[in-house]
This record gives sequence, C-alpha cells and structure tokens, in this order.
Amino acid sequence: MSVSDTPETLSVNETIKTKSRFLRGTLAEGLAVAESGAISDDDQQLIKFHGIYLQDDRDLRAERAKRKLDKAYSFMARLRVPGGVLSAPQYLAMDRLADERGNHTLRLTTRQSIQFHGVIKTNLRPALRQIDKVLLDTIAACGDVNRNVMCTPNEFAGAVYAQAEATARAISSHLLPHSHAWREIFIDDEKVTAEAEAEPVYGATYLPRKFKIAIAVPPQNDVDVFAHDLSYIAIVEDGRLVGYNVVVGGGMGATHGDAQTYPRVGDVIGFCRIAEAVAVAEAVVTAQRDFGNRSNRRRARLKYTIEDRGLAWFVAEVNKRLAVKLEPARPFAFSGNGDRMGWLTGDDGRHHLTLFIENGRVADIGDWRLKAALKEIAGTLDVSFIITPNQNLIIARADDAGRAAIEAILAAHGVRLRASVLREAAMACVALPTCALALTESERYLPGLITKLDALLAEHGLDKQAITVRMTGCPNGCARPYIAEIGFVGRNPGRYNLHLGGAHDGSRVAPLYREDADEAAILGILGALFADYAKAREQGETFGDFTVRRGVVAL
Ligand code: HEM
Ligand code: SF4
Repeated sequence: MSVSDTPETLSVNETIKTKSRFLRGTLAEGLAVAESGAISDDDQQLIKFHGIYLQDDRDLRAERAKRKLDKAYSFMARLRVPGGVLSAPQYLAMDRLADERGNHTLRLTTRQSIQFHGVIKTNLRPALRQIDKVLLDTIAACGDVNRNVMCTPNEFAGAVYAQAEATARAISSHLLPHSHAWREIFIDDEKVTAEAEAEPVYGATYLPRKFKIAIAVPPQNDVDVFAHDLSYIAIVEDGRLVGYNVVVGGGMGATHGDAQTYPRVGDVIGFCRIAEAVAVAEAVVTAQRDFGNRSNRRRARLKYTIEDRGLAWFVAEVNKRLAVKLEPARPFAFSGNGDRMGWLTGDDGRHHLTLFIENGRVADIGDWRLKAALKEIAGTLDVSFIITPNQNLIIARADDAGRAAIEAILAAHGVRLRASVLREAAMACVALPTCALALTESERYLPGLITKLDALLAEHGLDKQAITVRMTGCPNGCARPYIAEIGFVGRNPGRYNLHLGGAHDGSRVAPLYREDADEAAILGILGALFADYAKAREQGETFGDFTVRRGVVAL
C-alpha cells in the first residue's frame, strides 16, 4: 500500500502544495538549469497549476534508451480561454507560437482550449511571454484548481449565448488563483520571492484534485454538463435567460482494475439566478475544498465526496454557504452532445462556420493545409475564433463577403468543410506519443477506425445516422468516452475496452460491453450490432438507446 492509500495520511501532493509557497516550489531555479530538459519531480506536479506538463516523446524512448540518452523531454502548455473565444490577432499569435516554439501544430482540446506540444525547456518562458502579450495565459489550465470554464458557443449568435459566456468568464475570474507565481516565474524577470500571499477561495493547499466547470445552453449539451464537477444548464423562459440549473458530481476518470474508481454522471440539484452563479461556484468549490479526500488522489474528485457523504448532505452543505438558497430545478431538454456543424446565420445577418477539425489537430499535412488556411483567414478577415467542446472550430462573425472569402480560402488549401456524420461527432484524446499515461494510441488511430466503421454503417444504410464515438488512450477519459454511444478506452497496445449504451445527449454512463478488444473483435461486434440496428430499431431510436433496449448492455 502506498502512503497515499492510507486514509489518515495526506497524499504526497498535499505536502508538495503546502511547501510550494503558493505554487513556486523551485520552478524558477529548475527552469534555469540548461543541462537537463526536465525539472524535478515535485516541480512537475507544481508546473501543472501553471497549465504546463512535462512530457517526453514516447516514440523515441526505446531508441534513446538504447543509446543511453536522456528521454526527449518537452513541455505541453495549455491555454486558459473560458468558452474557447479568441480574437483573430490572438489566434494569429497562437499560430505563430506553434511554429516558433512548439511542434508546428495546434491541438484544440475537448475542453475548448488549445494545447501546444513539443515546447522545449529553453522555449518555455519565451512561449508564455508570447501568450501574455496577446492577453492570454495558461494559469490554472491544469492542477488541483478550477480549470478552463467551458460554455456552449457562440456568444455572437444571440443574447442568451452571450450571457452564458459572460457567466463563464465571471466564474473563471473569480476562481483564478491569486498567487503571482505564474507571472513571476514565466513572464517577469523579477526575483521570485516568498512574499505573503493569500488564496481567499482555495487556501494554501488549493483543492484536493482538479475541478471542472461547464455551462450548456439547451438544446445543445455540447459541453457535456454531466461530465464535470460543476455545471450549469441555461434556463430560457420567454426567450430570456433567467438563470441556471446546477449540476454537481460528474467526472470521467477511472483506473483499470480499481472498482473504487468509476465514471459518474452529475446530479441536477437545483436552480440559481444569473446573479448567483458565481456564488454557487464558490460554495461548491469550497465545500469540496473542505471535505474532499486529501489522502487518496484516486478518490479525491468531487464525485467521490458526493458518493461517500451522500447527495442530500452535499446539497445542504452548499446551501449553508449560500446567502440565496438554491430553488427547485426547472425543466430542460437536450437534443445531443455534438456541435452544430456547418454555417449558421444570426439575427444580425452575420455568419458563423463550425468547421470540422479531426480530433482538433490543426496542422498542414500534404495537400491538406488547414493551419495555413486558418492563418490566412485570421490575418485577412474581421472574424473571431471559438474552440468548440468537441474539438472543432467556429469561425464567427463573418459578413457576406467574409463568408465567401472563408469558403474560397479553405477550398484553396484543400480543406473540406464537412466530413461523414460519424467522423464529425467522433473525438479522440491525444494519447501517444506525448501523453505519459497513454496505454494505447488514440488520436493517431481513431481516424482509420472511423473509415472502417463508416464502411460498415454504409453497408446497412446507416451512414446518415448520428452516433457518438469517442476514444481515449487510457481510463482517465479525457475525451469523455464513458458517456458516448460507442466508447473505446485504451487497455493494452492495440486493444480497447468497448463501452456501449451511452445516451445520445450524454446523460448516462455507457456500461462496459467487452474488455480488451482488438480491431477485429471491435469490427465484428459493431458490424453485427449495426446490422441488427438497421433492421430492428424503432422510429427515431438512437443507437445508444437501441443497445439498451435490446439488452446488449444493462444499465
Ligand atoms: C486522472 C485523470 C486525468 C489525468 C491524469 C489526465 C492527464 C492528462 C494529460 C497528461 C494530458 C495531456 C495529453 C497530451 O496532450 O499529450 C491530458 C489531456 C487532456 N485532458 Fe486529461 N487527464 C485526466 C482526466 C481528464 C478528464 C476526465 C478530462 C475531461 C473530461 C480531461 C480533459 C483533458 C483534455 C481536454 C485534454 C487535452 C487533450 C484533448 O483534448 O485530447 N482529462 N490529460
Ligand atoms: S485519456 Fe489518458 S491517454 Fe488520453 S490524454 Fe487523457 S491521460 Fe492521456
């Protein structure tokens, strides 16, 4: 049993946080050591609070070990960008950053952020300064704090969306760590000090574990409100946003073979007015701060606090911390958890394109020059960019001429606006080669598998049927596979746990159907199910509901 498994003992990370002097540790010194591309173990934990992970290229590990070389270390940096909204100049700066400091690609994430991979140590501070120059940052994009706040796009499409986005920004600002460590370590040249600071919301040891918040505007559940620690569902009455239903205790992560850990969908616990949304966030966060498990990090997310103490207890604890108590939840309905793809025209006549980007990877590969196309659009047109919750990109606010120009630029760069229905809704996490936790491929494998699944669907006349497919390279579940209709969770090289029976709107956990399936098994199972679905589905029945009704999986 490790230290962190003993309930009475604080986990190692708690000591690291306590000693860190508000997230400083020895990061400044460690980053200045030119002889190594890495940093100390403790600092690797602390740098996450600043939106950065130390990684290494796993494709090169074996070869480098043979040659007795150090691992090929580099850093991954993740932006904090509430609701995923970037101005064109900000997007251009991020494009340049990927070329000058990263691996020439941008990765749009499942939580509406951008990740830069392959930033070597000497490039890290210059990269963060470039980010700071365009008024962006990476503060709290990882670590035991509130992360990037998600919100159904798009704020330019109507007043309700704009208000929801304003709430997302207000929550993000309110829960931002007060520590100046990020600025001191990465941006300013002033000496790092241990001056007295305070964290009014978090306290000196921050949260027991990561914390995730999302806001959905129905009928879209694109942000997957049931998958986060805390979510808000916009309630619109007579065309006006009146407030939010509050959802708590969702979370995806699990550990293979550990029954104490599992994915969980959140519970709707009440309704709050718009003006109370930030107070509700603080109440939920501080309840988790005070009662979350600080001994065992595998059981430290809010979902386990709620499971261990009971939902009624948790709701009472939140209400105790609120001046205005939660009201009864109001009715809502979701139609699905994908993005609205293609062009949308707002009441003001402006056009917004949700552009399909496979697994969020913006790159130039052969004749497909997406990165160059987006750069040209950002550099020449008056538009905004919004990263969607499903790894796609909205090019927003185009006028009629802009719309025509966008289509021409994309076509000239070999970029198609749309893909198959299955591919458009599919998501994969990064996994290999950068993610240290990956057990299997994900981003590099899913596109090929989708081609084969598309062929199977076409055989049965199902190629227009919307089905959500998601894959991750390990059970942490970064692409939310456990609430997809078809979820793949990496188990062993080339083999995946297959989950079936998720709801099309992301509202239930998909049970495990088959463990450790290789591609032949996956295609065999899904081919047979698609054939049955084509014959025996009821009017309008989604694939997830069908697999439950037919008893393929039991909820
Ligand atoms: C113990 C649990 C988890 C750990 C240790 C973890 C760790 C990581 C790491 C190391 C990466 C970087 C991969 C790379 O870019 O190379 C990553 C990516 C990411 N994770 Fe997690 N993760 C966990 C759970 C989750 C969950 C449950 C979610 C959301 C539901 C999530 C959301 C993300 C997102 C949005 C990315 C960006 C890449 C992408 O969109 O594929 N993570 N995670
Ligand atoms: S799901 Fe696992 S493999 Fe994929 S990015 Fe997250 S931690 Fe890495």
